[in-house]
Amino acid sequence: MNTDTLHSRVAALQRVTDEFSRALPLSRLRDAISTVIRARVPGIDWPALRIGDLEVAIPIVQGGMGVGISLSRLASAVAERGGIGVIAANAIGLIEKDYYRDGRAANIRALRREIRTARRNTDGVIGVNIMVAVNDFHELLDVAIEERVDLVFMGAGLPIKGLPVERIREAGIKVVPIVSSRRATEMIFRMWKKIYDDVPDAVVVEGPLAGGHLGFSVEQVDDPAFRLEEIVPDVVEAVRAFEDEMERAIPVIAGGGIYTGEDIAAILDAGASGVQMGTRFVATAECDADEKFKRAYVECTEADIGLIDSPVGMPGRAIRNDFIRSAEAGRRPAFRCAWQCLASCKADAARYCISIALNNARIGKIDKGFVFAGANAYRVDKIVSVDHLMETLGGEYREAATDAVVRRLGDRLNVVEGLRRRFSDARSLAAKLEREYGDAITTRIRHAGDAGIDHIRDLYDSALSSVRALQLQIAETLADAWSLLSPEVSATAEN
Ligand SMILES: Cc1cc2nc3c(=O)[nH]c(=O)nc-3n(C[C@H](O)[C@H](O)[C@H](O)COP(=O)(O)O)c2cc1C
Repeated sequence: MNTDTLHSRVAALQRVTDEFSRALPLSRLRDAISTVIRARVPGIDWPALRIGDLEVAIPIVQGGMGVGISLSRLASAVAERGGIGVIAANAIGLIEKDYYRDGRAANIRALRREIRTARRNTDGVIGVNIMVAVNDFHELLDVAIEERVDLVFMGAGLPIKGLPVERIREAGIKVVPIVSSRRATEMIFRMWKKIYDDVPDAVVVEGPLAGGHLGFSVEQVDDPAFRLEEIVPDVVEAVRAFEDEMERAIPVIAGGGIYTGEDIAAILDAGASGVQMGTRFVATAECDADEKFKRAYVECTEADIGLIDSPVGMPGRAIRNDFIRSAEAGRRPAFRCAWQCLASCKADAARYCISIALNNARIGKIDKGFVFAGANAYRVDKIVSVDHLMETLGGEYREAATDAVVRRLGDRLNVVEGLRRRFSDARSLAAKLEREYGDAITTRIRHAGDAGIDHIRDLYDSALSSVRALQLQIAETLADAWSLLSPEVSATAEN
């Protein structure tokens, strides 16, 4: 970004504002400001995502995708490109040969190795996603602490009791719960405050269009009241109280159905500070799943994507296939439970082992399992590199964000135009009354009398206060218009 060009264009905008104050025709002013904004499109760039002292240039978190879908390759590619890369810890040991002999040990070994590989591949920001519902939650968390990852995302349950918060803090790790409601957010933050005198560093709010397990009932999934754009402002409001209390920012990261840069611009507008995306990252060359897993996204239709009743005890969003239909019809594939990996799973009653089914899909045996996918997976038409995806999203974001700024500036300028007309009228009236008052005093027109003079003076005073009030409103509206630009202006000015 050429800071000099930006500064010269900001100076041009300043000149336009100065011209306004000398009452130029406003249509010219509006056109001039629009031209300035459009001309410096590259200046409207990703807003950085800050979580405590961590900062990434691109406010995109690659969602953790368990059972080997997001490992070090995907996570380090995303981190290297300026987002947050996340290794999913649950059932990660399935990438090891001895998972069925000792699942816990395989999980620990694989997670440690993947974190170290990611660290070797990039200096970017790396997180680990751990499901609260897994039986080895604490062992996996210990590995994340020992390896000093940057963040731990905790989903599929409420991360409240028994957390080693002191050790997490000593290791400089940020904690980010994944929630689906304001209620869950408030419960986690309130309990953390009470138990640990601390609160999480950020929160991911995941809406019903996400891939994988969902924090909603089947009925809620299609209920408009639970749409991501409805929940985000609620969660933002809920964390605000804790931000005030703790005197630190708690960014809200929104996920589930975010597909384009335009979607990102819209949800940031609704109050989010970043997004979490899964589906788009599955369809990348760097995603750690087999090619057939990724092809399933390219080949599926909208009608193929639906819900499953997962043995985890939550609905999940997946590409529905014969494996799922057969399980729903009561046919149970033979399987051996390796080690009761999920706290809530009743292996004897389960229709299938979800870890085995997801792992089969990961290694390309799609018909012996199924593919988790977000509601927008049918829009994927090719597999691209992470670099290409980030570039595309960046271009779309910039365009949408620039359009939004130009639109809002136009709105403000329309308001200014209306105010200016009233200002002009009020000023003429005041000038006329001033003249009349002057005449009345100097010529002492007999029929005006003192009462008449007082009346003219009252009218003049009132016209003058209208002029002042309108001046103030115009100044406020202009300041508001300028503030639309200030985040970008100050962000680029710092570079
Ligand atoms: C294949 C797949 C596996 C996933 N596995 C997990 C997981 O293990 N833990 C988790 O918290 N979220 C998981 N998710 C959810 C993602 O982290 C992310 O929040 C979600 O995909 C966002 O919605 P999107 O797919 O519409 O972008 C998974 C999603 C997908 C598509």
